[in-house]
Amino acid sequence: MGKLDNKVAIITGGASGIGEKMVDLFAQEGAIVIAADINEAALEKASQKENVHGMKLNVASDEDWAALAQEVNERFGKIDILVNNAGISSEKPFKEINAEDWQKMLTINGFGPFAGIKHVAPYMAANKQGSIINISSYTALIGQGFNHYSASKGAVRALSKAAATTFGRQGVRVNALFPGIIETPMTQTLSASKELLGQLIQATPLQRLGQPNDIAQAALFLASDDSSYITGSELVIDGGFSAQ
Ligand SMILES: NC(=O)c1ccc[n+]([C@@H]2O[C@H](COP(=O)([O-])OP(=O)(O)OC[C@H]3O[C@@H](n4cnc5c(N)ncnc54)[C@H](O)[C@@H]3O)[C@@H](O)[C@H]2O)c1
Repeated sequence: MGKLDNKVAIITGGASGIGEKMVDLFAQEGAIVIAADINEAALEKASQKENVHGMKLNVASDEDWAALAQEVNERFGKIDILVNNAGISSEKPFKEINAEDWQKMLTINGFGPFAGIKHVAPYMAANKQGSIINISSYTALIGQGFNHYSASKGAVRALSKAAATTFGRQGVRVNALFPGIIETPMTQTLSASKELLGQLIQATPLQRLGQPNDIAQAALFLASDDSSYITGSELVIDGGFSAQ
């Protein structure tokens, strides 16, 4: 028996990195998984997996979200789980960030999860149950020079609390995860430099970088009924980095 048997899950950014790992793990645990992503070519690969359906979604589009939520609900009868994982990052220095950069970052990383909750939570509420997991970042908790990326992830942190209180009485739980540096395509420039990699590992109490599975396992717990009394919570998964 799987931990997510008979559940229907939407995972955004499901075609790469952390999202791809979550897609695999949730399907392995019995869920029907919708891997939603803007990258159509990568979605073709995801769609070949058992119990996984790749669907195109630009998280920045209100219209895309409305259509996706309706289609999933019609095709699969319900939506139990939403993981707002899709995102972009940037290390642009403070003084080089312009209004367009800010707008793009906050739209994809901030409006994306907001619109996801706005369109999916009502379907969950109709069944009086659902679990929403938002992927924030340790950079929402401590200053690490990620500037507008940090700001966007801070928005995700606050949004999670707001949504948990808004939808709790309708049976929908909302929690946030705060990954540290995880080895994925997003961080490949960091981990490609041996020197920087050594410094990062040295600076981490648990003495390694995170792997997509570290985040996927936490998401699985929050998605499953094992966490049925947990909402509005924050789980940091960074090897102890931000605890220093
Ligand atoms: N890797 C890390 O170190 C790290 C640390 C903290 C938080 N995070 C967060 O975890 C999440 C996943 O990151 P990752 O490392 O797996 O990155 P990744 O780049 O490997 O994957 C991101 C996925 O999101 C998709 N995506 C981007 N913009 C989109 C849009 N507008 N609509 C739909 N899909 C879109 C991409 O196509 C890609 O498949 C992100 O929100 C990221 O900010 C990552």
